[in-house]
Amino acid sequence: MKKKLVVLISGRGSNLNSIINATKEADYPATVSLVVSDTSKAQGLNIARDNDIDNFIVERNSFNNKNEFEKNLIKKIIQYDPHLICLAGFMIVLSRGFVKKFKGKIINIHPSLLPKYKGLNTYERAINSGDKYSGCTVHHVNDELDGGEIIAQKKVVITSDENIDTLREKILKQEHKLYPNAIKTLLS
Ligand code: GRF
Repeated sequence: MKKKLVVLISGRGSNLNSIINATKEADYPATVSLVVSDTSKAQGLNIARDNDIDNFIVERNSFNNKNEFEKNLIKKIIQYDPHLICLAGFMIVLSRGFVKKFKGKIINIHPSLLPKYKGLNTYERAINSGDKYSGCTVHHVNDELDGGEIIAQKKVVITSDENIDTLREKILKQEHKLYPNAIKTLLS
């Protein structure tokens, strides 16, 4: 029996796409049961629709506070009883209460070699620091931003002529392999 994933997105959804593609392999241990976005504008919703995957929008902007927003998010997620909740470009920092509710079940992908460069603008920060390497990290989500236990990482070389766009592309290409593989390892 395949295990269930809920994927939370806010935008493009290229990681969602890579996860969905992986789930089409016969020996992949999981399937995407639900995609949730905090905005109707997320392009990733079309990827879910094109693949006939249940999808749901909880507009962050239509709630006065995060608590109300998360209540609705939780209500939807528990209907699907997921083995893992995969954050894939989800731009909302989840509360301590939310993390506790799904303890050990939430993972995220981040475009840096954590613990370096938590938060935003990871490409600029790596290039401006003169780093020779950057990469991506899949990690457990706890109540510290990008601070949970590391599950998997992939390194990329930063060349002397690197710019933000080339580094972003280079890392994204690796994310698309790292994330589905990390999920597979966790659930096998
Ligand atoms: C990725 O760079 C990921 O590392 C970060 O947000 C971006 C999401 O991209 N957390 P996409 O929506 O999966 O294309």
